Amino acid sequence: MWLALAVNRSTAYQPGAGVPEDEFEEFDSPETVAAIADTIRGFGHRVEVLEADRSFPSALAAGKFDFVFNVSEGLAGRSRESQVPAVCDMLGIPFSGSDAVTMGITLDKDLARRAVAGAGASASRNAGGGADAAGTTGGMVRVAPGRVFRNPDRIDLSGLTFPIFAKPNSEGSSKGIRNSSRITSEAEAKTRIAGLIREYRGPVLVEEFLPGCECTIGVLGNSRPRVLGIMEIAPKKVALADFVYSLETKRDYLNQVEYHVPPRLPAQTIAAIENTVLAAYERLGCRDFARIDVRLDGANVPHFLEANPLPGLSPVKGDLVILAKCAGMEYRELIGRILDLAFIRTGLASKPQFSGAFA
Ligand SMILES: Nc1ncnc2c1ncn2[C@@H]1O[C@H](COP(=O)(O)OP(=O)(O)OP(=O)(O)O)[C@@H](O)[C@H]1O
Ligand SMILES: [Mg+2]
Repeated sequence: MWLALAVNRSTAYQPGAGVPEDEFEEFDSPETVAAIADTIRGFGHRVEVLEADRSFPSALAAGKFDFVFNVSEGLAGRSRESQVPAVCDMLGIPFSGSDAVTMGITLDKDLARRAVAGAGASASRNAGGGADAAGTTGGMVRVAPGRVFRNPDRIDLSGLTFPIFAKPNSEGSSKGIRNSSRITSEAEAKTRIAGLIREYRGPVLVEEFLPGCECTIGVLGNSRPRVLGIMEIAPKKVALADFVYSLETKRDYLNQVEYHVPPRLPAQTIAAIENTVLAAYERLGCRDFARIDVRLDGANVPHFLEANPLPGLSPVKGDLVILAKCAGMEYRELIGRILDLAFIRTGLASKPQFSGAFA
């Protein structure tokens, strides 16, 4: 088949004046793009890399592409991750991964919280009459109590219990996430939240800080989504209750964290995490694959943090890739299974190359 690989390469753009230093953190390195393209070529397909910029719609329309493998984060705006899926749908070309609606909802962390938790999302601590040990009650996914702030001059933190955590509402790839995002006092909170609203030019989501174990979970599938693996991210140098998987931590991950697959958690908590992420995957309408972040509260109940329907696929530092490897799935198989799922979902293939497990 003839595939377009839709990308935004970090080397293709120059940051303008006055933008945050992590402006292009989401974009892929040339090495990652080459690894994905070479792996897909290894399955016998012809692959053309298309930069997902203004040239993308006409380049896609001009080619005779059967399929788009989408890893594009999009250029700008809250719906940037929806741009490639929307263009593909407009041109009638099937593509890998989630559609424009799911991309749009998941890039807005508060909308995603509402979608997964349903009514009472912003006060879920007490919603539904209390969660069972599985973290879900009647399929309820729990989120930390939280609130969105849009105006730097109107920050009312009443009702939230410190420590709290402040993050840009519509960013990913750790943009705006620093160790200092965990905030212990009201004075610090006001300065930090106002600063984030101005720097990232958008709303800031504030949640109560979840002090328990942090996990990132890979999910693959469509008709029967399944957990590929659960990876515990444990701090090496600070106490868990102070730990933030921040940009500075990720940039120095070899020294700062250790990964455990499976996580060092009781079977009951692992089952609760699986229930939480599978319910979130379904409610968000994710397709083919996603990586979902979860953190436990002080009572070890899993809470949904966010879903990444476009998880990084760097063969070296992509969290999904690392966890797949720890779960026994090499890079080639991971990419091949994503292709299998997408081809079968869109009718381009009738049976998978890799047998069993994920459908
Ligand atoms: N309510 C919370 N309580 C505790 N820690 C939190 C909370 N929200 C976020 N964090 C910490 O901040 C990190 C980044 O948050 P989140 O996953 O929402 O942002 P992101 O930048 O979209 O992440 P990614 O790099 O996975 O795309 C989490 O992995 C976690 O360590
Ligand atoms: Mg995350």
